[in-house]
Amino acid sequence: MPKKNQTLGEFIIENQQDFAYSSGELSRLINSIRLAAKVVNHEVNKAGLVDIIGNFGETNIQGEDQQKLDVMANETFIRTLTNREIVCGIASEENDDFITIAGCNNDHKNKYVVLMDPLDGSSNIDVNVSVGTIFSIYRRVTPVGSPVTKEDFLQPGNKQVAAGYIIYGTSTMLVYTTGNGVNGFTLNPALGSWYLSHPEMTFPEVGKIYSINEGNYVHFPQGVKDYIKYCQEEKEDRPYTSRYIGSMVSDIHRNMIKGGIFIYPKSSKAFNGKLRLLYECNPMAYIVEQAGGKASDGFRRILDIKPMELHQRAPFFCGSKKMVEKAEEFMANYE
Ligand code: AHG
Ligand code: MN
Ligand code: MN
Ligand code: MN
Repeated sequence: MPKKNQTLGEFIIENQQDFAYSSGELSRLINSIRLAAKVVNHEVNKAGLVDIIGNFGETNIQGEDQQKLDVMANETFIRTLTNREIVCGIASEENDDFITIAGCNNDHKNKYVVLMDPLDGSSNIDVNVSVGTIFSIYRRVTPVGSPVTKEDFLQPGNKQVAAGYIIYGTSTMLVYTTGNGVNGFTLNPALGSWYLSHPEMTFPEVGKIYSINEGNYVHFPQGVKDYIKYCQEEKEDRPYTSRYIGSMVSDIHRNMIKGGIFIYPKSSKAFNGKLRLLYECNPMAYIVEQAGGKASDGFRRILDIKPMELHQRAPFFCGSKKMVEKAEEFMANYE
C-alpha cells in the first residue's frame, strides 16, 4: 500500500518485489529516469533566461522542426541511460533509428529497452505552457548477449513492463506504472526529491471534459464529428467542457484527475492521425488502463496493436471508460 508523502526512492525500494522481474534492474532504470527528469526540469525552468527556446534548425524523421529543448531532453535521457549501462537499447521520437547499447564489456547483458518521447508538446515551449516526457519500457525478446534488434522494439503495448510520464507544469510530476496501479510523485525543487502526492490514481469512469483539436473538424471522420456534436448537445449532463492544451501529457493528466476524454483521430489529412504508437499512444494507454480508464484507436484496444514500424502513428481515443465507449459507438456506425 503506497504511503502518501514517502519519497520515490523509498517507494521503489518498498515495491521492488512487486515488479515482474525483480533483479533490481528495473528499479535502477526508474532511478535513472527520475534523475534525467530532474535535469530536464531544471533546463525547462530556465527557458526564456538562456538561449534554449526556439528552433534547433533541423527536422526530425516525423517531419517536424526540432526545438532546442527537444534535442536537449533527448540527449539528457539518452546520456543518463547510456552512462548507467542499464538498458540494451533506446528508441526515440527524435532519432531516425534505435540506439544499441553494448554495455561496459561489450556483452549486451542488459534486459530492458526504453522507448520515449523526450519532450511532448514542443510547440508550447516558447509560450511557457506545460510540456512533458513520456517513456515506455519492455523486456527484450532477443537473447541477452547479442545486440538488440528491431524486434525488441516492435512489441505490442500489452508487453510493456512499465510506462510513465513527467509533466513540467505548475509543479513537476512523475507519474508511472509497473503494472500494479498508477502513482504520481511531485518534485520538491528545493530538495530535489520526488514525493508521493497522488497515490493509486484512478480515472473517473465518466467525466465532463472533451479534448480534441476542433480546428481540424472538417477533416475528421463522420463518427468523430457526430461524437463532437453529442458532446455539445444540451441534454442530461451535457454540453461538456472543451479543454485542449496541445500537450498530450498535460491534456491526459488533467482528464485523469478531473474525468474526460482525449481524442487525436485520423483525418483526411493524416490517415493514421499524428500521435506515435510506440512513444505516445502505448505508454499513455498502459497508464490510463492501469488507472481504470480506456484507450483505443476508435475501434480496437491500442495495447493490442502489433507495431510494424518504429515511428508508426495511430488514431488515439483515451480517457474515462464510459466516454471512450460512447465515442466508439459513434465510430462503429461508419466502420
Ligand atoms: P510532440 O511535441 O512530442 O511532437 O507531440 C505533440 C503532440 C501532442 O503533444 C499534442 O497532443 C499534439 O501533438 C498536438 O497536435 P495539434 O497541434 O495537431 O493539435
Ligand atoms: Mn515532435
Ligand atoms: Mn509528443
Ligand atoms: Mn516530442
